[in-house]
Amino acid sequence: MDISKESALSLSRILQSLDLSGLSKTQKNVFVQRLDEHFPSLFQHYYDVYGWQYDFFYHLQSLVQVLFEGFAARPRSLKSKDMARIDNPHWHKKESMLGIACYVDLFGGDLKALKKRIPYFKSMGINYVHLMPLFKAPEGDSDGGYAVSDYRSVNPSLGDIDDLKNLAAAFNKEDINLVLDFVFNHTSDEHQWALKAKSGSTEHQAYYWMFDSKDIPNRYENHLREIFPQVRRGNFSFEPSTQKWVWTTFNNFQWDLNYSNPSVFNAITGEMLFLANIGCDALRLDALAFIWKEMGTSCENQPKAHTLIQAFNRCLQIVSPAVVFKSEAIVHPDEVVKYIDKEECQLSYNPLLMALIWNSLATRKTRLITASMKKTGTISNDCSWVNYVRCHDDIGWTFDDQVAEELGINGEDHRRFLNQFYTGRFAGSFANGVPFGENPSTGDCRVCGSLASLCGLERAQAENDSAAVELAEKRILLVHSIILSIGGLPLLYAGDDFALINDYGYQQDTAKQHDARWVHRIDVSNDMLERSPNPQITDLLKRLIQIRQSNAVFGDANTHFLDAPNEHCFAYLRDNGVQKCLCIVNFSEHTVHIHSDYFTQLEQSIALDLVSGSTLDLKQTMILDSYQFTWLKVS
Ligand code: GLC
Ligand code: GLC
Repeated sequence: MDISKESALSLSRILQSLDLSGLSKTQKNVFVQRLDEHFPSLFQHYYDVYGWQYDFFYHLQSLVQVLFEGFAARPRSLKSKDMARIDNPHWHKKESMLGIACYVDLFGGDLKALKKRIPYFKSMGINYVHLMPLFKAPEGDSDGGYAVSDYRSVNPSLGDIDDLKNLAAAFNKEDINLVLDFVFNHTSDEHQWALKAKSGSTEHQAYYWMFDSKDIPNRYENHLREIFPQVRRGNFSFEPSTQKWVWTTFNNFQWDLNYSNPSVFNAITGEMLFLANIGCDALRLDALAFIWKEMGTSCENQPKAHTLIQAFNRCLQIVSPAVVFKSEAIVHPDEVVKYIDKEECQLSYNPLLMALIWNSLATRKTRLITASMKKTGTISNDCSWVNYVRCHDDIGWTFDDQVAEELGINGEDHRRFLNQFYTGRFAGSFANGVPFGENPSTGDCRVCGSLASLCGLERAQAENDSAAVELAEKRILLVHSIILSIGGLPLLYAGDDFALINDYGYQQDTAKQHDARWVHRIDVSNDMLERSPNPQITDLLKRLIQIRQSNAVFGDANTHFLDAPNEHCFAYLRDNGVQKCLCIVNFSEHTVHIHSDYFTQLEQSIALDLVSGSTLDLKQTMILDSYQFTWLKVS
C-alpha cells in the first residue's frame, strides 16, 4: 500500500465532510496547513496501530474531528504562543531555565494561594513549575492524585478550573512555564468511563482491560513486574460488580486504559487537548512506558508505545504546538533515551543521572557515573534532559547492569548495598531513607526520603554533630551543582531548596501510611518562604542558580563526559563553541589533588572558577576540599 497516497486521499475525504465554518479565514488556513504538514505522519502512526480494524477510517475521521474541536476551542493568546514557539523551539535549552515540582496543597494550600507564591518563584529564578496532579480524584488514597476521575475538573479542595486557567495566565505573564501531568496510562476507577464499565456498558468495558477469568491475566502475569508489591501482588484486580479482572499496573483503583481500542486513543486525545488549552507549556507523560500491552512481553517500552506517543505528539503539533511532552520513563537507560525525540518527547527526566549521583555519594567513587554517562552520550539537539536529584517518587536504581559488570560491579548485589546504605542499615551510613515497595518474593526494594535526609542532615542534626551537619550541607550543594551545570533543564523538588528533612507524619494517616513516598512529600509553609529553616543552604543554592543563569555556557552547549582525574571525582566539559567550562566534583569527604596535567585539555593557562569567583593558575596542582566542586570557565 502506498501510505502517502492513502493518507492524502483520506485527508481530502475528511476535509470535505468537516465543517470548518466556525473558524475565521486565517484560522482555517492555519488548521489546514498544520494538517497538510502533520497529517501524513499521524496517519502513518495511527495506521500502524489501528489499520487492521475494519472501521479504521471511521476512527481516523473522528480523530480529526477531535483535533478540530481542540483547535477551535484554543484561546487566541495561546495561538499566538504557538506561533512564537514554532519560531523558538529550543526555549527549554536556555541557561535561564530552572524548574520546580510541587504539590498545590503542600505549596500554599490551593491554586489561589499558589498564585501568591509567584514572587517567591521569581526570587529563586524559577520559570518552570510542575504542579503535581490536581484533578478530581478519589477521596482518601488517590496515589497522590495519579488516579484521575475527571481530567476536566480540578480537585475541589484546590480550586476550580477557572482558578487553574487564571494561574496559567498569571504564570504566562511572568514567563513561568506551567507543566501539568497527563496521566494517560490509567484513569481512576471513579472516572465516568470506569463507572459506565462497572454498570455493564460493554463499550466502556472495552476502554479497559477486563477479563472474565484469571486465565489470560495469568499468562500476561508471567512476564510482568510488580510496581507496588507492598499493597497488592500482581497486576490485576477483581472488580466485584462485573465479576471481572481488571488490569491495574499500579494500585487497584488505577485502571489501565486499553490503547488497542482506537476509541480510547481518540477520547484521551480530547482530554489531552483540554489540558493543553488550559495554557500549559509541557505535559508530563505519566507512566508512558506501560501504555502498550503485548502478550509474552514485560508490557513496558513496547514499540507501539512509541508509535502512540508519536501520534499524540502530531496531534499537539496540529492543535497546540507550543506544548511539549516530557517523558517519565523510569526504566533501563537504553529504553529511557528511546522516548527522546522532537517527534516523541522533547523533554525527559534523567533517572540514570539521578540514581548515579546518589550512588557516588554512597560509594565516594565515580567510575559508574562516568562510564554510564559516556555510554548514554548525547541526545538530540532538539531535546533536553530534565535533571533532578529528588522528586515525589522513590529512587529506583535503574543503572545498566552491563556497564556495572564491565567495572566488576554485580548489579544485583550493588542495588542491595544501595538500599541498605540509604535506609541507614549499612554501618557508617549518613542517610535516613525509608524502604519502599519491598517485594517479599525477590527482596527487592526502592528508597524514599527527602534530599536533605538522604544527604545526612537529619541524622547529623539529631546527633547534634556540627561536623556532620557541615558535611551534609556540602552534599546538598554538591548534588544541586550537578543538575545546574551538566546540561539540560534543572528541576528542583519543593522543600529541597530549604533542605527539609523527612516528615514522618504520614504514618498517622490511614490513607497514606502504606505508601512511604509521603515521607518526602512535605508541606512548605509561608514561614519557610520568608525565612528558610536552613538559610545558609538556601542562600548558597540561590547563588549557584544565579551563576548558572548568567553564563550561556550552561545553556545551549555540548556536554563531554571526561575521564575523571581520580576515583573520587566526576568531570565534564561544557562547550558552546565560544566558551568552555570544566566542571569537577569531588564526591568524597577527603581532600583531593588534581595534577596540572589534567588541565592541558583546556589549552589555557588560567581559568575563572565561577563558584568561588577567583582566577586559577592551571599550571599548578589544584586542591579540592571535601565535597567541593569547581566550575572552571575559559574562553
Ligand atoms: C508515575 C508517578 C507515580 C505514580 C505512577 C502511577 O510513575 O510518578 O507517582 O504512582 O506514575 O501513576
Ligand atoms: C516504577 C515505575 C515508575 C513509577 C514508580 C512509582 O518505578 O517504573 O514509572 O514512577 O514505579 O513508584
